[in-house]
Amino acid sequence: MVDMKISLCGVQLDNPVIPASGTFGYGREFAELYDINMLGTFSFKGTTGKRRFGNPTPRIAECREGLINSVGLQNPGVDSVIGEELPALAKVFSKPVMANVSGFSIEEYVSVALKLAAQKQVGWIELNISCPNVHNGGMVFGTDPKQAAEVVGAVRKALDSQKASGGSRPLIVKLSPNVTDLAEIAFACEDAGADGLTLINTLQGMRIDLKTGRPVIANRIGGFSGPAVMPVALRMVYQVYERVRIPIIGCGGVSSAEDVLEMMLAGATAVQVGSANLVNPYACRDIIEALPETMKKYGIETLSDITGGAH
Ligand code: FUM
Repeated sequence: MVDMKISLCGVQLDNPVIPASGTFGYGREFAELYDINMLGTFSFKGTTGKRRFGNPTPRIAECREGLINSVGLQNPGVDSVIGEELPALAKVFSKPVMANVSGFSIEEYVSVALKLAAQKQVGWIELNISCPNVHNGGMVFGTDPKQAAEVVGAVRKALDSQKASGGSRPLIVKLSPNVTDLAEIAFACEDAGADGLTLINTLQGMRIDLKTGRPVIANRIGGFSGPAVMPVALRMVYQVYERVRIPIIGCGGVSSAEDVLEMMLAGATAVQVGSANLVNPYACRDIIEALPETMKKYGIETLSDITGGAH
């Protein structure tokens, strides 16, 4: 029997497969389709201090081998997530969940992270400093090493101050590929106190409607994801693995058990699956079910042993 268990920042997961934020809501809809307790965990929708309607429509453009989204962090706000989503989730999911924290200022990141870290269902804070679809927040923090370090340092300090009351959690930072030197930003985040990294968020892209001659997406530019992105994500995981010591969650175009193995060989400890969930809502279940056979095929007994094996 193969061993698929991994440890992510000190928390044990049954397997490394994690639906990515923004492709799995707060879990409820998927729990109607299959038992989501088979997942390693999942990362819930980027959550801000206040409810957000998101960007004007159209927000989605289909592409070959992927899609562009410009959702704009639509979410019910942190207090509703705590008051309504987490209690509903508790009925169908008994594992720690990853809380994706988004924001527009350092104060907002700190306050949302603190509220979510104090919830016993939350296993990790995933600080989203890489959303390409909002102005004055998101990616602005994640494309400059100094600003990235500032927000990570502030959240780290705040979480540490809650340690005694049990309100601290490992801090994972989700980074943008829309930069020249991702390893430099990753290193700045590690230096500022990150416990782990998620690499990568979406690549900026656009499409033009030939009938109107105008951009398909109302916001003109959005985040491109899907299988076409996988080689880029893999390259970034590989490069950052050589620069930092903290665990990396590989994310970008993963849609098969083979992709999971590739990501781990490049340096990932765990792997997020994003747009594949939108094409096939059973994608994560299918990947987890295919993993044991795929491991056997490549002579892998213990999955965690292969992290970084390609170096
Ligand atoms: O537009 C969005 O809600 C996307 C978020 C993200 O890519 O982090």
